[in-house]
Amino acid sequence: MRLAEGRLLERHGRWPEDVEVRLIDASASADDLARMQETLDASERQRAGRYRLQADRERFVCTRYALRTVLAGYTGCEPAALRFRQGARGKPFLEDHPGLSFNASHSGGHGLIAVSARRSVGVDIEHVNAGVDWHAIADLVCSAQEQRIIEDARADQRRAHFYRIWTAKEALVKALGLGIGDDLASISVHVAAGSPQRPAVATGSEFAAAAALKYRWIDEVEGHAACVAFGDDNARPAFTSSSSVQESGPARAAETSLLRQPPPSAR
Ligand SMILES: CC(C)(COP(=O)(O)OP(=O)(O)OC[C@H]1O[C@@H](n2cnc3c(N)ncnc32)[C@H](O)[C@@H]1OP(=O)(O)O)[C@@H](O)C(=O)NCCC(=O)NCCS
Repeated sequence: MRLAEGRLLERHGRWPEDVEVRLIDASASADDLARMQETLDASERQRAGRYRLQADRERFVCTRYALRTVLAGYTGCEPAALRFRQGARGKPFLEDHPGLSFNASHSGGHGLIAVSARRSVGVDIEHVNAGVDWHAIADLVCSAQEQRIIEDARADQRRAHFYRIWTAKEALVKALGLGIGDDLASISVHVAAGSPQRPAVATGSEFAAAAALKYRWIDEVEGHAACVAFGDDNARPAFTSSSSVQESGPARAAETSLLRQPPPSAR
């Protein structure tokens, strides 16, 4: 099985040394896929079985297998022995190692994983889809400042700017363990940001805690936009609260992403 745990991305000063970011090629032969599924637990196998498209199933299985393999290296457990739980809004964590922060995202032909034993992390990867009516989504999720940046950009750069903004917001809210909410426009990121930046967050936002995080785009994935967000050293992941619930439910993530639904104008 080739590079099942994904390719370690070089830091190039983009994120702290204790943050490991891996890119997964989310396709596999039928034999490899079957072998990977043996490492997953019953609820993960059930989820895999609920994906109607083979490509979606492969992406989920390859990413989850890679995540288990990488986390096994941190914990000293066998990949199959790791027990996942979920925070109140769905962010997975390890029952026996709740202080180890990790996050995964999958889209197009790839999965993306970030892990840190020292700080909270979130990632997002999105296949840049020419069929998505991003304008309608931008109206809902971009701050006035971000909308201006998009409008002021050259026409052929606007889609890329939108996807950068989107992936940064999603990585930030995933680092917090919150996920997408109505208030995404209260977060402002800067598309031209070079070194790790902190977002600006409007007063009273449900995402106020994002102001303490930094984000950095990952530009080396052809046809995809991607971003990693991370907290300060030793900041405890906010989601490992007593309200955590066990992993269950349908293929939730694929259903909740605005970018994977038809544009609002087409609904
Ligand atoms: C997290 C979320 C943004 C992911 O959206 P997406 O773009 O479709 O999916 P991605 O591929 O980027 O990420 C999926 C991964 O994020 C992780 N994840 C799920 N919920 C998360 C959360 N609240 N915070 C951080 N990460 C989360 C999981 O590892 C998931 O991987 P899996 O599908 O293999 O289990 C979206 O599912 C969301 O907003 N969830 C919150 C829903 C919520 O608030 N529910 C409340 C009632 S439970």
